[in-house]
Amino acid sequence: MRRIEWNERAGLLRDGLSSGGAFLVALDESGRANPMTIGWAQVGIVWSRPILTVYVRKSRYTHRCLQQADSFTVSVPRSGALDQALALCGSKSGRDLDKMQAAGLTPIQGRSVSTPVIDGCVLYYECRIVGRTQQELPDLAARDVIERYYPKGDPHLAVYGEILSAYVADRA
Ligand SMILES: Cc1cc2nc3c(=O)[nH]c(=O)nc-3n(C[C@H](O)[C@H](O)[C@H](O)COP(=O)(O)O)c2cc1C
Repeated sequence: MRRIEWNERAGLLRDGLSSGGAFLVALDESGRANPMTIGWAQVGIVWSRPILTVYVRKSRYTHRCLQQADSFTVSVPRSGALDQALALCGSKSGRDLDKMQAAGLTPIQGRSVSTPVIDGCVLYYECRIVGRTQQELPDLAARDVIERYYPKGDPHLAVYGEILSAYVADRA
């Protein structure tokens, strides 16, 4: 693994998110790592520090995990890789099964946070949670966005993580 600047490989993040997705990992109350597939994430500067923001609907088990966790990680597979695991982690819930095991994923201890990352990906972020904002539908201004993404409500929790470590696989 090779350490990178937080904004160095934005193209790898974009490619992963816009193909099969990436793994967001959070620890649940018992300390079990729960991977959830995400298609949305944002990297930038907030509070004078590099922040990665993830968006998690209220109905997800991960939403509950992130309410009490102090960190999360995002592991991005190369576009087209780990597709079956992404599909499982994007359709089953950690409420019902140990998805890390069911998807055949191998956790690797985080460098900077207690939440692990996932082996076999190309890009990794380890984040300390610095804030959370529960989106409310009346705050969303664009009708087309509400109609497309919230026909049944279930708005997202935005979770802001300070990027403490960013790194890529040696072959990336
Ligand atoms: C490609 C893909 C991208 C997804 N992106 C998100 C996302 O950004 N936010 C979200 O809340 N759910 C997203 N989902 C849905 C969750 O991954 C899915 O509901 C998952 O089963 C929740 O797991 P959990 O209950 O263990 O948290 C996505 C699913 C897929 C397949």
